[in-house]
Amino acid sequence: MEVRKAVLPVAGWGTRFLPATKAMPKEMFPIIDKPVIQFIVEECLDAGIDNIIFVTGRHKRPIEHHFDINTDLEKHLENCGKTQLLKNIMEISRLVNPIYIRQKEQLGLGHAVLVSEPTVGYEPFIVCLGDVILKDEESVLTKMMEVYRRFGKSVIAVFEVEEREVSKYGIIDGRHIERDIHIIDDLIEKPKIEEAPSRLAIVGRYLFTPKIFEKLKVTPPGRGGEIQLTDAIKLLLEEEAVYAIKINSKVYDTGTPMGYLQTMIEFALQREDLRDDLTKYLRGLLIQPTEV
Ligand code: G1P
Repeated sequence: MEVRKAVLPVAGWGTRFLPATKAMPKEMFPIIDKPVIQFIVEECLDAGIDNIIFVTGRHKRPIEHHFDINTDLEKHLENCGKTQLLKNIMEISRLVNPIYIRQKEQLGLGHAVLVSEPTVGYEPFIVCLGDVILKDEESVLTKMMEVYRRFGKSVIAVFEVEEREVSKYGIIDGRHIERDIHIIDDLIEKPKIEEAPSRLAIVGRYLFTPKIFEKLKVTPPGRGGEIQLTDAIKLLLEEEAVYAIKINSKVYDTGTPMGYLQTMIEFALQREDLRDDLTKYLRGLLIQPTEV
């Protein structure tokens, strides 16, 4: 069966960014002028997935407004002759078919995915985490869908991290089978360095068979008292094979202040309209560091 839907869990509190996230979802933080969540939605659209299921919460309304049609704003931009801006804002709201479902309690990533079950139904689906932006020549989701088409089983994207970083991610223990494909034997959520079976970290892109829902229903709270998606995948392994695809994409983790800053600076340096002025500004700062 073809993959038609993507689930984007966006109900988290964003505690690492308080007080900014008290009233504003972290997924709406801009990378210059585009909110982080739009990058993720565009990634899904590029892979041919336009049914986007947002697992949302009561403090996440701006996300709904962002993907809705805003006729007043469109009229205003049309009247001012701002055609490029008009095209930009029209495109995203018309290309995506958003579905919103509430996660009433924040019980963890696994729980968020389980909440999406009535909207996914019994079919394979993608999960994209809302704070990781991937930059690659080829679409990671498309590659994952190719692996799914071949094996008919779940696929997880992983990337290689440095040893000191393993405790920030879900880490897999796998066997290389061909090119960039591994078959997973085990996984562990945020292990200590000495417990980590490899340096292959889950990047936040998953493709699941619907069997994962059965497993999520019986996954006990794990790390941090939360229902962990990684633990449900571990249960899934008892019944079905799960594949990993190792990606070489540039990974931007916008979920921490430092990662957010790095993403913002790198993206700005890649933009023709900002590159020169920003470079000059940064050089100036680095030559004469200012006391704050
Ligand atoms: C989640 C997952 C983890 C994965 C990571 C990728 O953790 O639980 O397995 O490696 O996303 O960003 P979080 O960063 O939400 O704590």
